[in-house]
Amino acid sequence: MKSRTLDAVNNQIQAEFQSAYIYLAMSARFEDMKMSGAANWMRIQWQEETAHAMKLYDHLIRRGESPVLQTIDKPEVSFESALDAFERVLEHERHVTHLIHSLYEVAVEEKDYALQTLLHWFIDEQVEEEENAEAIIDSLRLAGESGQGLFLVDRELGQRAPEEEEDE
Ligand code: FEO
Repeated sequence: MKSRTLDAVNNQIQAEFQSAYIYLAMSARFEDMKMSGAANWMRIQWQEETAHAMKLYDHLIRRGESPVLQTIDKPEVSFESALDAFERVLEHERHVTHLIHSLYEVAVEEKDYALQTLLHWFIDEQVEEEENAEAIIDSLRLAGESGQGLFLVDRELGQRAPEEEEDE
């Protein structure tokens, strides 16, 4: 693997673990707010982000490379409402989509076909991640300030279950 490509994958591994950390911090904040459904949703998102990091990590291992783990920053998570939190999720996922696209561009420029194939999965996943966040924002906007509406959305978020492991 070329060093430019390897560095770019190591950076993305960091970004995925950083995302996991942000969502775990959001989960803790929702626990404080007594919104256990949203806390569950964020905890599952933490697992998913960790799985994304490991997918890239395993790709490097399979290609005989050594992943180099980088610093993960302390997550700064302060939000006042569930709507505010999920708007931040959407904004963050748009940022990650941009990172994945940039990584794909490196893979194309460096003619790394195996990495391009792996990244097709990530490109699709980002469409889903943004779609999921947008749907939750829509529900929260409909619920507005109503306690009953928020209760129902929280209950729905509580039903999110971990995804089955998929084969690459
Ligand atoms: Fe791994 Fe939410 O992007």
